[in-house]
Amino acid sequence: MTIESNLNPLVTQVQPSPIRVFDGLISNIPGIIKLTLGEPDFPSPDAAKVAAISGIEDNQTKYAPSPGTPDLLENISDFLKRRYDLDYPSNQISVTVGATEALASAFLTILQPGDKVIVPNPMFSLYDSIIKIQGGEPIHIDTSENGFILSPEMIQEAVDANDGQVKAVLLNYPTNPTGVTWTYDEAKAIADVCRKNDLLVVSDEVYSEFVYEGEHVSMATLLPELTLLVNGVSKSHSMTGWRIGFLAGPEEIMKYVAVGHQSLVTTASTVSQIAASAALETGDDYIVEMREAFKERRDYFYNALTSVGFTIKNPNGAFYMFAGIPEDLNQDSFQFAVDLAENAKVAGVPGTAFGIGGENFIRFSYAASLDEIKEASDRIVNYVHSLRNK
Ligand SMILES: Cc1ncc(COP(=O)(O)O)c(C=O)c1O
Repeated sequence: MTIESNLNPLVTQVQPSPIRVFDGLISNIPGIIKLTLGEPDFPSPDAAKVAAISGIEDNQTKYAPSPGTPDLLENISDFLKRRYDLDYPSNQISVTVGATEALASAFLTILQPGDKVIVPNPMFSLYDSIIKIQGGEPIHIDTSENGFILSPEMIQEAVDANDGQVKAVLLNYPTNPTGVTWTYDEAKAIADVCRKNDLLVVSDEVYSEFVYEGEHVSMATLLPELTLLVNGVSKSHSMTGWRIGFLAGPEEIMKYVAVGHQSLVTTASTVSQIAASAALETGDDYIVEMREAFKERRDYFYNALTSVGFTIKNPNGAFYMFAGIPEDLNQDSFQFAVDLAENAKVAGVPGTAFGIGGENFIRFSYAASLDEIKEASDRIVNYVHSLRNK
């Protein structure tokens, strides 16, 4: 018997992240501009840094209460109220180790072995393994033919085809990798079909602060009784390394989430919670600055890419552009991304790294400086011209 065959197949069968595989291939190319990363290029807010330093000096370095520090829970509650008009008292919130642990705790709590979870694709690639490791079975729905927007019909069809076995839907908008987000009507239609079928919703809204036209409508305002809301400060406050996310939901579910969360991690880092609390308490100016910067970069990059024939649908949120490779060029997304990296020295992630519906696409993150975006745009445009002039 090999060691591997004696381990948990739910873990050993998970494939390594295709993003990392690709990253390994292109990272050593000299002078490459990497538009691959899913994190803002801004430093974390000063308020967070100052608070963390004084927390350490003050010896606030012991375990925090399992659901989170009272200060942070209150600041999350205030943030959700002021930004999305949501009413979550502290006892309906759990602070987690990044949004990633919020997702893991949510599925740990709601899934029974074999339960099915609808996952719109293209998707953030961790979703698949998080669901499978918790014993669930993802049902992937390709949204590419519908402008990357999940429709109520798609949900209903999947529910009908799976005969009472669908437990939940995993939503993510603004969406990684497509940058597409939903209008009020689109979100409402999804809420209605989930309510009709009594489906739990895990709504990953980590990019909610990065919507460029219109306002973000949280699923939790439309379907509070069935929604577990996932968010955090990683993206909104450029605090990816602090590892603070949170989960909010109905009291009767959250009391069990607390058990799941405790068994996974006990609690999130105390110092990081102090930092996140300070970041949320200082208000939203910092976010506004980032949002404006991203919007400027997005507009510039969108114009450059579409000028040479990339097609990009509704990049109205997050900081990604999911660019359809022009039809006269190599349509294999992995090979196109490798060629672009080697020849133009710009790296984007092949669309196939994000599940189904990403063939012929490449994902660029514009969470890089405007100078880098301009230089990357020039390189891509020149590369495409050079291919056409061959
Ligand atoms: C859609 C989505 N959800 C969750 C995460 C993970 O967030 P965190 O770093 O807070 O764990 C990411 C990170 O890229 C993401 O894109």
